[in-house]
Amino acid sequence: MHTKKPLIFAHRGVSSQCPENTLSAFRKAIEVGADGIELDVHRSKDGHLLVCHDETVDRTTDGKGVIQEMTRKDLSKLDAGSWFGTAFKGERIPMLEEVLNILQPTTLLLNIELKTDYFFYPGIEEETYALIQKYGMEDRVILSSFNHYTVLRFRRIAPKVRTGILYSCHLFAPHTYASSLGVQALHPPMHLAQTEIIEAAHEAGLTVHGWFSRERFDVERAKNYLGSYVDILITNYPQEYLSLRDKG
Ligand code: G3P
Ligand code: MG
Repeated sequence: MHTKKPLIFAHRGVSSQCPENTLSAFRKAIEVGADGIELDVHRSKDGHLLVCHDETVDRTTDGKGVIQEMTRKDLSKLDAGSWFGTAFKGERIPMLEEVLNILQPTTLLLNIELKTDYFFYPGIEEETYALIQKYGMEDRVILSSFNHYTVLRFRRIAPKVRTGILYSCHLFAPHTYASSLGVQALHPPMHLAQTEIIEAAHEAGLTVHGWFSRERFDVERAKNYLGSYVDILITNYPQEYLSLRDKG
């Protein structure tokens, strides 16, 4: 999958233009021609997989509460758009299945990040895989998590789906570690995606999918990132990256 110019994925959808992790943000990604989207998954009290970044709804909706203590019905009442702008009033927290339903007829790839960092949501790996199978998207999904036990569990039940390890510290020889887990990709933040790390990963047969922590878009820096030989760039500014990449 190594290409000279990276694929561009919309981080939490086009989160620079729409409220993150909402259907508007994902539809926008399709509209701007992103190669894929990245989203974050948690589970409700009554067992529904839903798309939200934090463990709580406090930051991105008009409600308060811990997702795993709330039912789908509780969650469906919340406004997940107004915090971002009045134009998005009434936007809901999407279920993972709704997003698969929208993406399935397109050619976009999908990076599902399982947010098992604090709550482990036992069984979430099987439940996620069942949905991926239902929509026949096994070859279009990349499954990642900061919780590498989650990644391993998923890999064991779904060996044909690509997996990657997320990390945000200076791992020593991440390609060796990733290969020992049997995953296909590294998911470092871009400030940890140095040339040596990328080259060693490629030599080990891995791909590198970089993301940004507290991203600000800057044209000159973006050009450098586009030339850095990462395979996928996961950005809040996919439209800007696509226009730079495709004219350059
Ligand atoms: O998957 C890349 C990135 O989303 C990881 O960090 O906190 O934005 O989910 P976070
Ligand atoms: Mg994420």
